[in-house]
Amino acid sequence: MSYLEIRNASVGFGPESNRANVLKGINLSVEKNEFVAIIGFSGSGKSTLMSLLAGLETPDSGSVYLNGKEVTQPSPERGIMFQNYSLLPWLTVYENIELAVRKVFTGYSKAQVKDHVLKYIEMVNLLPAVEKKPHELSGGMRQRVSLARTLSMKPDVLLLDEPLSALDALTRSNIQDEIIRIWEEDKRTVVMITNDVDEALLMADRIIPLTMGPDATLDTPFEVPLERPRDRATLNANMRYRQLRTDIASFLIEMNEESKRLRSKTVLKMPDVTPRDFTIATSTALREFDEEDAFQLEEEEKAG
Ligand SMILES: Nc1ncnc2c1ncn2[C@@H]1O[C@H](COP(=O)(O)OP(=O)(O)OP(=O)(O)O)[C@@H](O)[C@H]1O
Ligand SMILES: [Mg+2]
Repeated sequence: MSYLEIRNASVGFGPESNRANVLKGINLSVEKNEFVAIIGFSGSGKSTLMSLLAGLETPDSGSVYLNGKEVTQPSPERGIMFQNYSLLPWLTVYENIELAVRKVFTGYSKAQVKDHVLKYIEMVNLLPAVEKKPHELSGGMRQRVSLARTLSMKPDVLLLDEPLSALDALTRSNIQDEIIRIWEEDKRTVVMITNDVDEALLMADRIIPLTMGPDATLDTPFEVPLERPRDRATLNANMRYRQLRTDIASFLIEMNEESKRLRSKTVLKMPDVTPRDFTIATSTALREFDEEDAFQLEEEEKAG
């Protein structure tokens, strides 16, 4: 059995009589210290898959295992970084991270907590914003706070739901490097969602496509046998990299086309309604009215 496993899991939403299956027959095996990227289109069920791994969502059928134990609820050993950042609005940047650190490192002294919190705030370049509340931050800054909070808990498994999507290119590459450094130094297991093929190729050992929903499932993984450390500047010249990039892009394009074909085959049933008969003054009618009105006024003026 692998370190982190999903076995034949399905997740749906809605009442039993009208349940919409988002994920179906999901099988995933992640080895310890592996870095896996999941790639897929919007709305396919990527965040739902993350919630499943975090223990926030229970599968309708199938199961999730970490280290041989079934995952049934959230735990600090599986740190999730949510796509919507989920910061507490009434707490400052410092306090948002402090809260998480105190919860996990219960034996830390006040000074240790402070050092630890500041270390992670510095890592994401947010020391100048330490006393700011989330509403005073940009989207990218909130994303970095959220990432710092997840990393600060030092979970065994990092679950990152599009952690870098709101960042500019430069900050994005800095934080990519930071995540890789942390992953290499502390030997963690990472599952990261991304919609960026280059990012996935730079960071991951394996890239797994999630097919389009409903009934989304994980497709055949692409292994990324590129040597580490991977250097952005030289990767582009690497034939293996270029081939993988083309293969994954073609796969995604084909998946998109296939989904369009399926959608066009589905006949949309329209509701049987008759529109009410409204008489609406059109702009022409209004103009005519204005002209008549003006003529009337002119006549009255002449007469009087
Ligand atoms: N709690 C919920 N209740 C009902 N439907 C839900 C719930 N969570 C997600 N869904 C539905 O499940 C589907 C997948 O949602 P999910 O957020 O997992 O997609 P995603 O791949 O993460 O999308 P994005 O790339 O836009 O973040 C969507 O159709 C969504 O409406
Ligand atoms: Mg999502």
